[in-house]
Amino acid sequence: DIHKALRHTLFAGGKKLRPYLAIQTYLLFKNDIETIKPVAASLETLHTYTLIHDDLPEVDNDDMRRGKKSCHVMYGSDLALMAGDSLLCYSFQILATCDLSDSLKLKLIKEMAECAGDRGLIAGQYVDIISETKTVPKKTLKYIHHNKTAKLLLLAIRFGALVAKAGKDDLARLEKYGEKMGLAFQIVDDILDIEGSSGTLGKSIGKDIEEGKATFPSIYGLDESKEMARNLIDEALKILDYYGEKAQTLKLLTEFIYKRKF
Ligand code: IPE
Ligand code: IPE
Ligand code: MG
Ligand code: MG
Ligand code: MG
Repeated sequence: DIHKALRHTLFAGGKKLRPYLAIQTYLLFKNDIETIKPVAASLETLHTYTLIHDDLPEVDNDDMRRGKKSCHVMYGSDLALMAGDSLLCYSFQILATCDLSDSLKLKLIKEMAECAGDRGLIAGQYVDIISETKTVPKKTLKYIHHNKTAKLLLLAIRFGALVAKAGKDDLARLEKYGEKMGLAFQIVDDILDIEGSSGTLGKSIGKDIEEGKATFPSIYGLDESKEMARNLIDEALKILDYYGEKAQTLKLLTEFIYKRKF
């Protein structure tokens, strides 16, 4: 049933990168992790919903996710659609019921809605699919990647900072960090679709070329894409220098985003 279907992908593994980013950002300012835990979880349920829907035949038509059969291959598109819908609802439910002040919860819920909605992640996903087999301007490519992927990674950073009650300057600084790190993440995802191994990645490779997707390698070539990702990561790391020792783990995570093979 629906629960089996959503658990199939939610508990299939995955890097849990968004929760880690939220937690590590929170730890720049605080020492506990209890407060941020449910907020971190809400990011993973949201992300997993996007993966299940991204893999549907009508979107990317991918048969493999997190080293297992995609949700729709296992349970059918009807249940996969509903499993995704349920995970999306859970994300807001988790935020609404966690132990934070009402005003902070409202802020997080509002930001998640903006991030995930038709001027955020959905916009990115939409332009992604309508751009298939077309040569898009560089501006459009950046728009796709920023919206479909970077915004949610940035949201994870913002959630960590907001729950830690970071000040305006910190939020602005981390916003810049998050944008660079987020874009780099999707460029590396594009590169791995060409150079990665499906066994390690847990998803099929070569699909971007097959579907004629607008990707960084398709527009800039592999070498330039790598260089761009490297530069973004270096700029992101530089921003974290401000936090000194405290940012060590976050820096390791940031470096991992570039070096990862999965
Ligand atoms: C894959 O995200 C989808 C993109 C936004 C590129 P991840 O690479 O973080 O997937 P998991 O969570 O580790 O499976
Ligand atoms: C997916 O981008 C972004 C979202 C799921 C929102 P991709 O389509 O490149 O992700 P993968 O490669 O299927 O994981
Ligand atoms: Mg996609
Ligand atoms: Mg995909
Ligand atoms: Mg991809």
